[in-house]
Amino acid sequence: MTTLGTRTEGGQEPLRVGILGTGMIATTGVGVLPNMQWIAEKVTVAAVADVVFERAEAVAKEFCVPAAYPSLEAMLEGADLDAVVNLTPIGFHGRTSLAILRAGKHLATEKPLANTMDEADEIIELAAAGNLTVVCAPPDALFPTYQEARRLLDLDAIGRVAFARVRSSHAGPGGGPYGWPTDPSWFYQRGSGPLLDMGVYGIHEITALLGPAKRVVAFSGITEPTRTVRGTGPFGGTVMDVTTDDNTLFMLDFGGATFAVVDGTFNVHAARSPKIEIFGRRGTLNIKDGRGGESPLEVYRVDALPGMDGWVQPAGWGHLRQSQARHDLLHRAVVVEHLADCVRTGERPTLSAEHGRHALEIMLKVAESARTGRALELTTTF
Ligand SMILES: NC(=O)c1ccc[n+]([C@@H]2O[C@H](COP(=O)([O-])OP(=O)(O)OC[C@H]3O[C@@H](n4cnc5c(N)ncnc54)[C@H](O)[C@@H]3O)[C@@H](O)[C@H]2O)c1
Repeated sequence: MTTLGTRTEGGQEPLRVGILGTGMIATTGVGVLPNMQWIAEKVTVAAVADVVFERAEAVAKEFCVPAAYPSLEAMLEGADLDAVVNLTPIGFHGRTSLAILRAGKHLATEKPLANTMDEADEIIELAAAGNLTVVCAPPDALFPTYQEARRLLDLDAIGRVAFARVRSSHAGPGGGPYGWPTDPSWFYQRGSGPLLDMGVYGIHEITALLGPAKRVVAFSGITEPTRTVRGTGPFGGTVMDVTTDDNTLFMLDFGGATFAVVDGTFNVHAARSPKIEIFGRRGTLNIKDGRGGESPLEVYRVDALPGMDGWVQPAGWGHLRQSQARHDLLHRAVVVEHLADCVRTGERPTLSAEHGRHALEIMLKVAESARTGRALELTTTF
């Protein structure tokens, strides 16, 4: 293993990463490789690997990566790496991330952190034992919007929080008018699905804002047994079997009569409600999808002036616009930058493995709750 402490001293040497999985999130405009250019002073992509070797080779050529490998093992053996970015499909995260840490490499992984709680525990143990950094997507908790929302909640801007509504769904891979550039079938199969693919965002967001949850209860099911990929792309017209729940709604109990309702479905073609609404005893805090000029934060205050309630625009937003713009520019590469920053500074990641483990426990217990009809206690925290 490279002695990273020496190489990065003074912030001179970029982190040498290998990219595992060269599919959509590796290559799309809002993905990782096209946006590494913005963090070239911090990170160098030294290799890519994919079980479909021709894909790895083509991607290496397109993005000028010096080496391509047909497997994780071959890449770990052949390339001089400090870290691996795990962009494999959901069902492979646990076993591949464990192999990456066992090889002594830092890890940035797509969500969810792992597939079982045992894997998640082992990831955290291996990282601690090897003095390795683990960063887990989604990146939302890094975004200025969420950090400002958290600051406002901590300032008691809306009083004691009673409940939140969290929107965390889309129409499903291939469900939009432009179809999907890679084969999206696996998203609808057992071991994947919208809870793990989309609900995970809402879980990370609301727990970043309100802290760890204590209990879950859920409903879940399959809306239709097959789906057809839309659009005229390479997979347009493909009929996909739906073998995992594509429609999951759940509630989180944060204790002290504070609740959240979260959706994790492939059934939202459009919505006009805020991404997140938090209702407190003295007001409401909304986080909207919109980026750009308008503030994505909205606050309604009881007694904004004595005897007058109303919507107010948080003034702090103006200061944060610039850093939000950087996150918008980096897209998914922001997770890789976070890893590089944490490795260099030794700071604990905001997108920590412990947060990823808590989110995984919620998702696994949501599925169990929906199966058994029982509310289930959560044991992890972050
Ligand atoms: N596609 C998106 O818009 C998007 C957005 C955010 C996060 N993600 C996450 O990114 C991850 C990958 O999704 P994707 O859409 O890029 O999938 P994809 O199917 O387009 O690409 C995955 C790639 O991983 C390769 N692969 C599979 N198993 C492997 C293994 N064991 N070793 C090496 N390579 C392997 C596949 O051959 C494929 O090329 C998932 O966790 C997904 O949830 C995807």
